[in-house]
Amino acid sequence: MIPKPVFLLLLSLSLLSQLSAVRHVEILRDGWRFQKGPALGAEQPGFDDSNWEVVSVPHDWAIYGPFDKEIDKQVVAIRQNMERVPREKTGRTGALPHVGEGWYRKEFTLPEFSKGKRAILQFEGAMSEPEVFLNGKQIGKWNYGYGYFYLDITYNLEKGKDAINTLAVHLDNKGFASRWYPGAGLYRKVTITIKDEASIDHWGVGITTPEVTDEAATVNITTEITGRNLTLETQIIDAAGQIVATQTTEAPDYSTTEQNITLPHPSLWSPESPYLYTAVSILREGDEIKDRLETRFGVRTIEYIPEKGFFLNGQNRKFKGVCLHHDLGPLGAAVNIAALRRQMRILKDMGCDSIRSAHNMPSLEQLDLADEMGFLFLAESFDEWKRPKVENGYNRFFQQDAEQDIVNLVRATRNHPSIVMWSSGNEVPDQSSSDGPKLAKYLQDIFHREDPQNRPVTVGMDDVRNVMKNGFGAIIDVPGLNYRVHLYEEAYATFPQKILLGSETASTVSSRGVYKFPVERHRKKEYPDLQSSSYDFEYTPWSNLPEKDFIMQDDKPWVIGEFVWTGFDYLGEPTPYDHYWPSRSSYFGICDLAGLPKDRYYLYRSRWNTEDDTLHILPHWNWPDRVGKVTPVFVYTNYNQAELFLNGRSLGIQRKTKDKTPQHRYRLMWEDVIYEPGTLEVVALDDAGNEAGRAQMHTAGPPARLMLEADRTTIHADGEDIAFITVSAVDASGNPAPLADNQLRFTVEGAARYRAACNGDATSLEMFHEPTMKLFSGKLVVLVQATKEAGSSTLTVSADGLPDSTIDIQSIL
Ligand code: GAL
Repeated sequence: MIPKPVFLLLLSLSLLSQLSAVRHVEILRDGWRFQKGPALGAEQPGFDDSNWEVVSVPHDWAIYGPFDKEIDKQVVAIRQNMERVPREKTGRTGALPHVGEGWYRKEFTLPEFSKGKRAILQFEGAMSEPEVFLNGKQIGKWNYGYGYFYLDITYNLEKGKDAINTLAVHLDNKGFASRWYPGAGLYRKVTITIKDEASIDHWGVGITTPEVTDEAATVNITTEITGRNLTLETQIIDAAGQIVATQTTEAPDYSTTEQNITLPHPSLWSPESPYLYTAVSILREGDEIKDRLETRFGVRTIEYIPEKGFFLNGQNRKFKGVCLHHDLGPLGAAVNIAALRRQMRILKDMGCDSIRSAHNMPSLEQLDLADEMGFLFLAESFDEWKRPKVENGYNRFFQQDAEQDIVNLVRATRNHPSIVMWSSGNEVPDQSSSDGPKLAKYLQDIFHREDPQNRPVTVGMDDVRNVMKNGFGAIIDVPGLNYRVHLYEEAYATFPQKILLGSETASTVSSRGVYKFPVERHRKKEYPDLQSSSYDFEYTPWSNLPEKDFIMQDDKPWVIGEFVWTGFDYLGEPTPYDHYWPSRSSYFGICDLAGLPKDRYYLYRSRWNTEDDTLHILPHWNWPDRVGKVTPVFVYTNYNQAELFLNGRSLGIQRKTKDKTPQHRYRLMWEDVIYEPGTLEVVALDDAGNEAGRAQMHTAGPPARLMLEADRTTIHADGEDIAFITVSAVDASGNPAPLADNQLRFTVEGAARYRAACNGDATSLEMFHEPTMKLFSGKLVVLVQATKEAGSSTLTVSADGLPDSTIDIQSIL
């Protein structure tokens, strides 16, 4: 008999050897060296980078500015914007210094690596045209800045546990390669996965739930395996961590193992109840565990039924969606989970349930959050196919790369329950060409071939008259129309699919807290201050006000929902001011670049959020120059009627009605209110005429102090987490001061650090990372970022003539 201590030692050794055999994922986050511009010999291990900047990845080298109109100045007629005459344009890509070359270098050791193992280096997005060198040798090259890709580096690693490896990445951003701010650098995660030679292939697990009833779901799992004489055990773990089903199968050598596992009484995934399971794949050779991989998935069914629309788990619903570009405002393109989560919380409160990643692959972090928080996801791939929109766009790579880019998109993301549709393109000029239908079919077939769930594919089409004639629109699984609401009926009658998606809608423009008079609907309105009115009456020549879409969504069962352009403002595309300077970010957002809701947020909330009441008054009530002048008051509410009072006097009841303009059906508007300072009060009335809620808007006195409100006051001391603190100027009674534009200064003392500020003003040239910024319409947001140190920190905000304000943030391990 083996004595007890020896037995225990043997047991722990065998456990250790088992554990060390399973995969290890190393995130290459800290300790990178970065330099902008060319660097001769930088790929070589001995290269001296000691005076390069030390950075953490994800990193965006261009977000630190400065803004400069020369960076993306061009003379061009933007065809997508229906322009015929070339004009000078600035700010289209954010006027930030993203163009040019950049180098990243990192030295690392891989103690987990040894003979018989494999190492996979994965990039989740590198802007752009990354060339990857390991230990002096070029080991890979990718073109698309949004694509995920991986390289097997097993045979390029230096031998030995303590051996130092040198990774170098060269990036090159051409000018005129994008229609928005693309960011620059290693803006998404870089990882190395170390696993046994005998293991599950990279992105090798595919999960579907082909049959779902209340009693049971069939979980179909395909597992691609390299190795021989292996068995595969798959455990299904529920959200409480319990194993609820398991199956063990002899794995055919070097092949795919298919398992069908019965999951009793499945909890279904939906935006309202985002229930997730985990499939744990355990690969064994005899008793030895060779690999162990966790894959999250959800049980849900999706159907797109002609005439009837989209069904999730058998329930008909319409996409209440927004389009989002990938930048995170003041953080640029560098992925940050806290920033993404905050965006998605703000969207949830609005009642939004869907996101379209315009016009490219989403970050894997955003998909994880969509799974967890409950968002339906439309994952897009390209803004260009063969034919250019911009000189140096994806058209340069399409023929050679499109297939592989789609394969990687689908294989890397196919198990996310949030993804319910793919998009192969946005307003591609090819839609109008003779080979357009062929290209559309070619791409769609790749999605179908790669996706075991066979999710449908859409294309955001804008040349609707042409695609109705040339067969393009008839080919697409789910025809998506960008704008062109007036052609919906005709397209519906023409296309055989008998459903239509508003793949892009509204493109209404506004600046938070800015109101223009007289209040009129405008297709293309420019003002000398380069702002757009927040009365939500201004849009672009190719788009429409939100209500035209609402009417289609509400009245036509075959319209399956909409994706509003956009949920948040983004860097670049400063329509309608792209031919003026300074303006460097969009006006389309429902929320501004800082994530602060504009008035429009409450218009969407009033119809999308069916749980909570909305009662929002606009404009603000500080108009010293408008005393005695007509100053319309709008109310966005889920109630159908309300009474408005000014200084206690009733201004009458307004009711939503189908008999006037589209706006009268969804907004309550008192169009001839004569301004006098004081208090506006709105009393919402239910359909029986009883009071259902009330809200006030007061004329504010001069700013007396700064109010600080954090989205979270406890963050993780992981070096990445961020608290977002909204700073508002208020008067002596605490009323928001909507005109305040004080210059603020920020300091953070303690465990966290000042990261950035953003005020949502598209014309501001103040840099986000500088510890000072002006308020815009009385507000801005400060980002305080965790270090790796636990403890408390204090943000102090100061302004001349106002007392300092502080807020404490705790960082916890
Ligand atoms: C669409 C386009 C978007 C954006 C938007 C602005 O046509 O797909 O990328 O440019 O217009 O309204």
